[in-house]
Amino acid sequence: PTPTPTDSYAINFAGVAANQNDTVTVPTGYTVDILLKAGDSVETGTPYSGSFPTPADAEKWAGGNHDGMEYFDLSGTDANSGGLLALNHEYPDFNILMSGSYNAATATADQKALALSAVGISVVEIAKASDGKWAVKAGSRFNKRYTGNDIYRAGGPAAGLLSSSIKGMLNNCASGRTPWGTYLTCEETTDNYLDPTQPAEDYGWVVEIDPYQELAAPTKRTALGRFSHENTAYMANSDNRVAIYMGDDTTPGCIYKFIPDRAFSTANRAANIDLLDYGTLYVARFNGDGTGEWRALVRGQNGLTTGASDPGDVSQFTTPPAPATVDFNSQADVLINCQSAARVAGGTVMDRPEWITVAPDNSAIFVTLTNNGSRRVTDPANPRVTNRHGHIVKFKEEGNSPLATTFSWEIFLLAGSPTLADDNLKGNINGDAFSSPDGLRIDPKGRLWVQTDASTSSSTTSVFGNNSMYYVDQATKRSTRFLVGPTGCEITGLAYTPDLKTFFINIQHPTGNWPVAGQPPRSSTIVVRRTDSQPVGN
Ligand code: FEO
Ligand code: CA
Ligand code: CA
Ligand code: CA
Repeated sequence: PTPTPTDSYAINFAGVAANQNDTVTVPTGYTVDILLKAGDSVETGTPYSGSFPTPADAEKWAGGNHDGMEYFDLSGTDANSGGLLALNHEYPDFNILMSGSYNAATATADQKALALSAVGISVVEIAKASDGKWAVKAGSRFNKRYTGNDIYRAGGPAAGLLSSSIKGMLNNCASGRTPWGTYLTCEETTDNYLDPTQPAEDYGWVVEIDPYQELAAPTKRTALGRFSHENTAYMANSDNRVAIYMGDDTTPGCIYKFIPDRAFSTANRAANIDLLDYGTLYVARFNGDGTGEWRALVRGQNGLTTGASDPGDVSQFTTPPAPATVDFNSQADVLINCQSAARVAGGTVMDRPEWITVAPDNSAIFVTLTNNGSRRVTDPANPRVTNRHGHIVKFKEEGNSPLATTFSWEIFLLAGSPTLADDNLKGNINGDAFSSPDGLRIDPKGRLWVQTDASTSSSTTSVFGNNSMYYVDQATKRSTRFLVGPTGCEITGLAYTPDLKTFFINIQHPTGNWPVAGQPPRSSTIVVRRTDSQPVGN
């Protein structure tokens, strides 16, 4: 249901040219404001002002490397002018935390505390002023940091094998939400690389956090599997049954979905408190004939037994490695060693699955496969060796049902540029060329937005410009560049108000002089809107 040309949500913006400017470029008629920089206050305290913090100060700041985010409404507030923004911090912005480079093996206790303060998530209450500008409401009771120094609990079948009080979460890459209004933040690492003294099994999970602080304490949901999680996206049906889709950003990794056993309750929010602890995890297998199947990752099914045979990475070696023997003695083993379980069960190893998104009418699911320069052996869903620029796959569940066990699929587009000499790098993009699609979202009006995280080496930026955000028409597959980021950054994270007049976008790891001249560069959340207050895109 793409908007008709006369609809106020129809895409009418004039695309911007690729550039390598150290600023955020948006179309004519649009404006950019900076909402939340790394080092700004989330909880009340002393924000960054040019000098290094104490660990206690940094624990109250917005962390670094802003990534996935979600916007939540607040009862009693017009959601188009105020609400809660929950956002991920993938990695510290070390340049505002300490001098020199961080070495986890030799870091002091204070250095570790500083690094771990800057990962996790921030929740901030934000509001729009009469001039249209958005700001954090200082002192709101909802403003809260959840960091790598905090304690988390675990739920689900593998919880008993994790520490009883888990120290921290980290590499909070992308994210998602549930229909019952909780935030799902995804750990894109299966160890604590900032503090290797912590047990690896405690990391690599989806963490459920209630931004309203009403339901459970932050909980690692082990039923959703342990891998290098990118984001989550849900599909719900009219019976309130739901599936949660997820990618494993590993070279290469699989695509998963989790189906809770129960329907969610719209009448009783508290009834959903452990919904994600009971259900079935599946891995996607993409067959060569355009069909696909979801294979259950359940101990005793699909080869998941004691003495199972893991084929390993079949994409990088023209002579496959010898299979490894893996013991799945329990469902906890399957979930903790999920990447291996997925391969044993016949899941297709993909060219680094990043974001996944579900169309509002459940008719399509898109997933970015960002790149895999190491691919030597192709398959129909990963059709290029040395896939430097990545691709996007579209698939469709049987009956548009979240409960389906089969689907159909197609390659939606191959990224790259027709100006490149090598046939393998040209891709087939119609319109503005890009490399390494990563952030991806179909908004509530069915409009597909793509954000890039390409290498910022000069050879790549000279072809594609700085990392950018694009609108891609699903029928014509025409790509139009909407926003170009400053020097060195990736563009990631997309949230919006219900009227789609305000877009929240993250600028991650800039390396120039943005956003504050004369200070170190800082990852930041920006607000993009039209100066005439019409919906973004029109
Ligand atoms: Fe943190 Fe896969 O991006
Ligand atoms: Ca990143
Ligand atoms: Ca990403
Ligand atoms: Ca990426």
